[in-house]
Amino acid sequence: MKFSQLLLLGLLAMWTFVASAAAEIPAAKAPTRCGNIDVPYPFGLDPQCAIHGDFVLNCSTVGRDTKLFLYNMEVIKVSVPDGKVWVKTLIACQCYNQTTNSLSIFNVWMSLPSTYALSADDNKVIVIGWPSSGPALDKQNAPKNGSCSGAGCCQADLPKGVRQYDSFFQEGYNTSQIWRTSPCNYITVMETAAFNFSTTYLTSTVFYDMTTHGNRLCWNGG
Ligand SMILES: *[C@@H]1O[C@H](CO)[C@@H](O)[C@H](O)[C@H]1NC(C)=O
Ligand SMILES: *[C@@H]1O[C@H](CO)[C@@H](O)[C@H](O)[C@H]1NC(C)=O
Ligand SMILES: *[C@@H]1O[C@H](CO)[C@@H](O)[C@H](O)[C@H]1NC(C)=O
Ligand SMILES: *[C@@H]1O[C@H](CO)[C@@H](O)[C@H](O)[C@H]1NC(C)=O
Ligand SMILES: *[C@@H]1O[C@H](CO)[C@@H](O)[C@H](O)[C@H]1NC(C)=O
Repeated sequence: MKFSQLLLLGLLAMWTFVASAAAEIPAAKAPTRCGNIDVPYPFGLDPQCAIHGDFVLNCSTVGRDTKLFLYNMEVIKVSVPDGKVWVKTLIACQCYNQTTNSLSIFNVWMSLPSTYALSADDNKVIVIGWPSSGPALDKQNAPKNGSCSGAGCCQADLPKGVRQYDSFFQEGYNTSQIWRTSPCNYITVMETAAFNFSTTYLTSTVFYDMTTHGNRLCWNGG
């Protein structure tokens, strides 16, 4: 299964910009592709070709790949008709380190310029993991594949217009009793359509591994 950590941003102000500047589309043809991603107007790879500073994307070579960035977020897709940009985001994680008997914690803070907002229609806040002293694992509240509704996985709607969030773990959380069955906990905001809970996300680091693309920010000593 191909799985990317995606997040949609609604371009709140875009259509007003387009309407007022339609006559000023630059004549010079600037590159409109970065790697295999199209960069349509009003976006541009150059300030002269974008309608506004917040629409200037950055095409950079990272290792062997050519990647597109909006500020420091990697862009996967741009859709002008939808008014949306898909970017990769970081996952807040907390993993029990078997070697050190301590927790590795990586909290995430994100802030967008006022041109953008998180799409409340497309994204959800998703939390994966177990409370350190949780309900007994009877059949009824056992985690289920494809279901993120309380057991091992919770999700919540985003309010409209969110441009900033902070995901962090409670201090003093002690997973020493549960790390064998659930080594890591995660918090993320991502596209609901790209997420399908699997019970293997609790028992291994597969969710983290397939969404972080080599940037391991949490370890469980394994
Ligand atoms: C483009 O983005 C990369 C990755 O965030 C960054 O290292 C580089 O400095 C940026 N370049 C420009 C011109 O902003
Ligand atoms: C969920 O699916 C995975 C394979 O994708 C499987 O290994 C696991 O046992 C399933 N979980 C349950 C509770 O059936
Ligand atoms: C989610 O995965 C389960 C198996 O783990 C599968 O049965 C279900 O069809 C999937 N749902 C979607 C929307 O892909
Ligand atoms: C975590 O809990 C275990 C026993 O439940 C205890 O031995 C250990 O000291 C606790 N660790 C911390 C950091 O509180
Ligand atoms: C966890 O333990 C491993 C040793 O197995 C160590 O290399 C790693 O740095 C530790 N992680 C953190 C975040 O301290």
